[in-house]
Amino acid sequence: MGTITPLILFVLQSNTFSGLFDGQNVITLQRTPSTNEYLKNELTKSTPLREGTVIMAVDQYAGRGQKGAVWVSEPGKNLTFSLLLTPTFLHPRHQFLLTVAISVAIAKCLETLLPEPVKIKWPNDLFVGDRKIGGILIENILKGNVWKSAIVGIGINVNQTAFPTDIARHTSSIYHLLHQETDLLTLLHDLGRHIEQAYNELKQSAHENLLAYYRQHLYRLNERHPFLVEGIRVHGTVTGVTENGRLQVTFDGHMADFDIKEIAFVI
Ligand code: BTN
Repeated sequence: MGTITPLILFVLQSNTFSGLFDGQNVITLQRTPSTNEYLKNELTKSTPLREGTVIMAVDQYAGRGQKGAVWVSEPGKNLTFSLLLTPTFLHPRHQFLLTVAISVAIAKCLETLLPEPVKIKWPNDLFVGDRKIGGILIENILKGNVWKSAIVGIGINVNQTAFPTDIARHTSSIYHLLHQETDLLTLLHDLGRHIEQAYNELKQSAHENLLAYYRQHLYRLNERHPFLVEGIRVHGTVTGVTENGRLQVTFDGHMADFDIKEIAFVI
């Protein structure tokens, strides 16, 4: 693929995130393949980036999702951004706790806006009903046993009204639920506040509260539904998640736990 230098529209010395992220940069790119890729590439350069740097795209045309999926977003309609964090205070074996903190922060933020409950589809999708409204792709940079940085990619469907047919049935947006447009920068600001709060809780080892919220807001918690386990369709009930991020599911009274490659929801 040829290299396209993204146009940096403006660099805001902004207070988008107060406190911890005070005075950080929010860099808005008019067009880039993926904000995660952009941020990753910036990290290879000699100028160090501050924790809390946000790369946001107006038109992210080759967005990446979990498990090699693509993330499709209509230009100018949604939030597609990547946030740089340096969770050096956490051992890499506790990576799941960052997933928890970010998922909880986004769920709490969206809850303040939306008329319906926001659920966390394990491990880190944001759902309203049976429809996805947002996704998270965290990419970690480790050095031995030290967690150097995390690129936290976040996509939220905000003002988009139509989605590609293959995902339309299970996709929603804030517009679908509110029937009115939401200002993207205001939402980015609100998300920043919630992320900052959750991240501070994580720093202060208050992850039990975050985990409790995560567990209580799991999509399909305590409901019997079909799953695919090793390609076989089985009915089970989500009962929780372990501290290292394995999904706990009960099948006919017998509990098992799974990692992301081992089980899939049937929606
Ligand atoms: C998923 O649900 O599969 C994760 C979606 C993550 C999408 C965001 S949009 C901003 C950032 N840049 C990317 O290429 N992906 C993430």
